[in-house]
Amino acid sequence: MQKRAEAAFISSFGSSSTTSVHAPGRVNLIGEHTDYNDGFVLPCAIDRGTVIAVRRRTDRRVRVVALDYGGARDEFDLTQPLTPEGAVHWSHYVRGMAEQLVSFDPSLPGLDMVITGDVPQGAGLSSSASLEVAVGAAFRAAGGTPNLDPTQLALLAQRAENEFVGCQCGIMDQLVSARGVAGSALLIDCRNLTTMPVALPEDAAVLIAHSMVRRGLVDSHYNERREACAAAARHLGVNALRDVTLDQLETSGLPALTRRRARHVVTENSRTLRAAEVLAQGDLAAMAALMAASHASMRNDFEITVPAVDRLVELITDTLAGEGGCRMTGGGFGGCVVAVLPRRRVAAVESAINLHYRSPEGLASKVFVCQPSAGAGALTSQDEFGANT
Ligand code: GLA
Repeated sequence: MQKRAEAAFISSFGSSSTTSVHAPGRVNLIGEHTDYNDGFVLPCAIDRGTVIAVRRRTDRRVRVVALDYGGARDEFDLTQPLTPEGAVHWSHYVRGMAEQLVSFDPSLPGLDMVITGDVPQGAGLSSSASLEVAVGAAFRAAGGTPNLDPTQLALLAQRAENEFVGCQCGIMDQLVSARGVAGSALLIDCRNLTTMPVALPEDAAVLIAHSMVRRGLVDSHYNERREACAAAARHLGVNALRDVTLDQLETSGLPALTRRRARHVVTENSRTLRAAEVLAQGDLAAMAALMAASHASMRNDFEITVPAVDRLVELITDTLAGEGGCRMTGGGFGGCVVAVLPRRRVAAVESAINLHYRSPEGLASKVFVCQPSAGAGALTSQDEFGANT
């Protein structure tokens, strides 16, 4: 990917880029819809992401080429108010991020950029967070915002998505893309934004299987679920559902549906904390039980799974027979499932999926065995990031 971006930079802008940066996508092992409730999440950055070849300009213009959109271009000026341009969706993430960076550093320099990536879109693997964080890393690497630390970068990326793109996402995706640690998942406390790496057991693999049911955060019921959680917190007189115990919830007098939504969040927080412990101890059987409980809670209480995803989880769980775990991952309503399993079981799971799973449209699942990876940063000329070089 890096070589492709650098070659396209020369053909697009007439001379070489000075730096390339990358920012990974992510898969969440457990802790779903807890981030915007000030709770806990346990994602890892993956070895798929966005790569940007970049060169600083002497003026304040930004010129962008999106290789994966047939070389589509966008161009804007950092001295002008930035607005979303038409329906060119990829450029909204770039403009939204540039707007946030200018508010952090009003003298932000202009850049030329070529962008490419290999996070499947609409799969729930955070292709958009990876793009936003990569744009932030590009400005930083080219000498803008040198004092921006990875957590601030993630916060600006989240704000870009909230304000410019219009999706009320939490902080998980951007923070793990900015702060991921190779070989580890990251336990994030979404209240104070502290992160703790949790090393995955040596013999464990992280397998992602796409249900091929496409999801769209903005179009989905994401904002509606978020509002239900906020309503429950208001009713209970707390800042966030992080502060609620199961007992308090069961005696709260909340309407049944809102109580179920809140119960998912409260139980998921304790599962996530426990998962970080058992993973650190290398106890995949205990992790499997927590992932199964998480999936059941997303299906029954939070109601964000779809039948095809439930079938895929069941198939993988049955194949693993307690040796590893599986659950839906990401915002919900389609997308991917994640499994944490002993490496020696990967082939059996892959063949079970190939044999027995088809989406409602008859599509086979796409399976990725991924490497928990480091967060965003500059690439040297020797580096290669991701599978497509
Ligand atoms: C999306 C959002 C995240 C998080 C998850 C659900 O990925 O971007 O902030 O809320 O959904 O856990």
